[in-house]
Amino acid sequence: MFPLRIPLLAILVNVALCQYDYYDYQPASMLGPSGPNCNEECDCPVTFPSAMYCDSRKLKKVPFVPTGIKYLYLQNNQIEEIKAGVFDNVTDTLRWLILDRNQITNGKIEKGTIDKLTALEKLFFSYNNLTEPIIPPSKSLDELKMMYNQMSKFPSGLLNDKENLTSINVQHNLLTSDAIAGAFKGPKKLLSLDVSHNKLKKLPAGVPSSLEILYADFNDIDGIGAGYLNKLPTLQYLRVSNNKLVDSGLPAGVFNVTSLLELDLSFNKLQSIPEINEQLEQFYLQANEINKFDLSSFCKYVGPVNYSRLKHLRLDANNITHSSMPAESSNCLRQCSDIMFE
Ligand SMILES: *[C@@H]1O[C@H](CO)[C@@H](O)[C@H](O)[C@H]1NC(C)=O
Ligand SMILES: *[C@@H]1O[C@H](CO)[C@@H](O)[C@H](O)[C@H]1NC(C)=O
Ligand SMILES: *[C@@H]1O[C@H](CO)[C@@H](O)[C@H](O)[C@H]1NC(C)=O
Ligand SMILES: *[C@@H]1O[C@H](CO)[C@@H](O)[C@H](O)[C@H]1NC(C)=O
Ligand SMILES: *[C@@H]1O[C@H](CO)[C@@H](O)[C@H](O)[C@H]1NC(C)=O
Ligand SMILES: *[C@@H]1O[C@H](CO)[C@@H](O)[C@H](O)[C@H]1NC(C)=O
Repeated sequence: MFPLRIPLLAILVNVALCQYDYYDYQPASMLGPSGPNCNEECDCPVTFPSAMYCDSRKLKKVPFVPTGIKYLYLQNNQIEEIKAGVFDNVTDTLRWLILDRNQITNGKIEKGTIDKLTALEKLFFSYNNLTEPIIPPSKSLDELKMMYNQMSKFPSGLLNDKENLTSINVQHNLLTSDAIAGAFKGPKKLLSLDVSHNKLKKLPAGVPSSLEILYADFNDIDGIGAGYLNKLPTLQYLRVSNNKLVDSGLPAGVFNVTSLLELDLSFNKLQSIPEINEQLEQFYLQANEINKFDLSSFCKYVGPVNYSRLKHLRLDANNITHSSMPAESSNCLRQCSDIMFE
C-alpha cells in the first residue's frame, strides 16, 4: 500500500504548508470617510489617518503618497511600475509598504522610489515578478517578505546594516545555494528564515547565530554539513522535508544539539533514523525509506534523568512497522505519546 499512501500524504502536507501564506496584517476592514490628506484613488480612514488603503482597485502604478502616511496598502492591483517621486513626501516616515499580488519587475522600479525610504519597517513584496530583491536603505527594517517571485539571486551584503531585521521569507523563488552565499549574514537579530521551495543544494551558509526558525522544505538538499547546527545555538525549528537527504549526507551527530525542539525530515530518502538529542520533542520522518528501528538514535544511555523528551514521532510510509521497535523502547521513549507507523 505504500505507493498509494505517499501521494495522499503529499497532498495533506501541501495543504498544511499553504496555510503559511496567509497575511498577518489587517487589510481595509473599517473604512470610514477619507481623512483630509489622501490620494483620491485610495481611502484613508479618519480614525486611522496615517494608513492609506489602495488595495484591490486595478491600479496600474503606485499613486503619489501624501505627507503623513505611514502605512501603505497596495496589494491586489495590476501595478507594473513604480515611478520616481511617488514616495517623496514620505521618505523618512513610511513604515509599512505592502505590494503583494502585483506584477512589478525590477526594471520598472525607478530610482528615487524604494531606494529613498529610510524608515521602512515592513516590506511585503510577494506574488510579483521580481528577479532580484529590492532592499530599502532603512536601518529599521524588521520584516521582509518576497515569496512567490522569480528571484534567482540575492546578493550578499544587501542586508548588512539591517540590525532589527527578525524575519525573512523568500519561499517559492528560484534561488540556488551559490546565489544566496552570504546573503543573510548581516542581520544579527534574525529569528526566522524561510527558503522553502527554491533550488538549494545545501542549507544556507553563514546565517546569523540568532536564528530560531529555519525552513528549507522543497529544495534539492542531499546532505547537511557536520557542525552546521553547532553554529546555531538557539535554533528550535528545522524543516528540511521534501528534499533529497540520504544517510551518507548526514554526518554522525549532526542533529545532536540541545536547542532543537522540532525536526522535519519527512519525504526524503533516508534509510536509517538519524541520531537526535534527548531534548527533541517533535520528529517527522514519514515517507522515507527507513527499514530499521535503532533505539540508539534516540538514547545512548537510559536512566532516571537520561531519556528522550520526544512527544511525537512519525515513521509512517517507511519500510518499518510497530514490531520493529525493541521492547526496551518504552523506557527511552517514555514521553512519546504518539508514534505513527501507518
Ligand atoms: C508634499 O510635500 C510638499 C512640500 O512639503 C507639500 O507642499 C505638498 O502639499 C505635499 N503634497 C501632498 C499631496 O502631501
Ligand atoms: C508576471 O509573471 C506572470 C506569471 O509568471 C506573468 O503571467 C506576467 O505576464 C508577468 N508580468 C510582467 C509584467 O512581467
Ligand atoms: C531597533 O529596535 C529597537 C527596539 O525596538 C529600537 O529602539 C531601535 O531604534 C531600532 N533601530 C533602528 C535602526 O530602527
Ligand atoms: C549526543 O551528544 C551527547 C553529548 O555530546 C552524548 O552524550 C549523547 O550520547 C549523544 N546522543 C546521541 C543519541 O548520539
Ligand atoms: C545523563 O543526563 C545528565 C543530565 O542531562 C547528564 O549530565 C549526563 O551526562 C547523562 N549521562 C549519560 C551517561 O549520558
Ligand atoms: C523492507 O524490509 C524487509 C524486512 O525488513 C526487507 O526484506 C526488504 O528488503 C525491505 N525493502 C526495502 C525496499 O528496503
